[in-house]
Amino acid sequence: MTHLELTGVAIDFPTSRGPFRALNGVNLKIDQGEFVSLIGHSGCGKSTVLNIVAGLYQATEGGVVLEGKEVREPGPERAVVFQNHSLLPWLSAYENVELAVKQVFRNSKSKAEMKEWIEHNLELVHMSHALHKRPDEISGGMKQRVGIARALAMQPKVLLMDEPFGALDALTRAHLQDSLMDIQARLNNTVIMITHDVDEAVLLSDRIVMMTNGPAATVGEILNIELERPRNRIELADDVRYNHYRHEVLSFLYEKQRKPPEGVTTAAQEKNKPAKTTELAQDLHSNTVSDGEKAAHAAA
Ligand SMILES: Nc1ncnc2c1ncn2[C@@H]1O[C@H](COP(=O)(O)OP(=O)(O)O)[C@@H](O)[C@H]1O
Ligand SMILES: [Mg+2]
Repeated sequence: MTHLELTGVAIDFPTSRGPFRALNGVNLKIDQGEFVSLIGHSGCGKSTVLNIVAGLYQATEGGVVLEGKEVREPGPERAVVFQNHSLLPWLSAYENVELAVKQVFRNSKSKAEMKEWIEHNLELVHMSHALHKRPDEISGGMKQRVGIARALAMQPKVLLMDEPFGALDALTRAHLQDSLMDIQARLNNTVIMITHDVDEAVLLSDRIVMMTNGPAATVGEILNIELERPRNRIELADDVRYNHYRHEVLSFLYEKQRKPPEGVTTAAQEKNKPAKTTELAQDLHSNTVSDGEKAAHAAA
């Protein structure tokens, strides 16, 4: 049985000019323990794919099946890490993780077991020294660590990450990528991660799913990254295979799926354009789920 399967996924967003088809015919099968990256130009539909898997959006056609069960709503077996951490600002790192742990393990773990589990997950992301700090007292990298700990603490079958390191400086990002590889090697989680960073995609992934430009975006090509693990970024920098994979992704993005210059729209885009240009002009790094939804999902 396939672990996670997207079959014929399409989605229409309602606009005042009629439905806007953001995704069409998205098919993808993912094995347990696989690390899959989604890459594609801004606005192509990566976050939409992730939000459908998370159960935050409903596909118009097709659907998602996780371990034989159709995804219809958010659930703790599919934990999400957003780019902007979405921690509750009035709670400490410990309490943010605790909130998720209580939701999931209320009936199966004792108070003492929950405490141990919360501390364990914060330790995995090297946050033991700052358990009782609030989000405004820690750095961006540390907030992302807490967000990852919170997601891992739910013991999800699938970890969904939407540009988790996109807002961080290069050095912090490298540290977090290494921790993530480490954690995934230990826990063997299934991970779907959206990224804009070609090096990040090649370094972390078993497969890179490259999406075509929207509207009606779909899976363009899939690249298998056959580099043995554990992977070392310094050794890989001079590796011929690494550079070949990198080149493949760059060529897909900048030759095959070249983005038209700003302001130029194709006929297909014109036809499908959402009513408000602001919808198209979304920031590279923005997610389409509101903070309220994120908080609700985080607490779910
Ligand atoms: N809730 C929504 N309502 C209307 N249009 C949306 C909504 N969410 C996403 N879109 C549109 O769908 C397309 C894909 O968006 P998104 O998945 O956020 O892209 P990416 O994450 O690849 O940058 C964009 O054209 C975006 O404007
Ligand atoms: Mg996005």
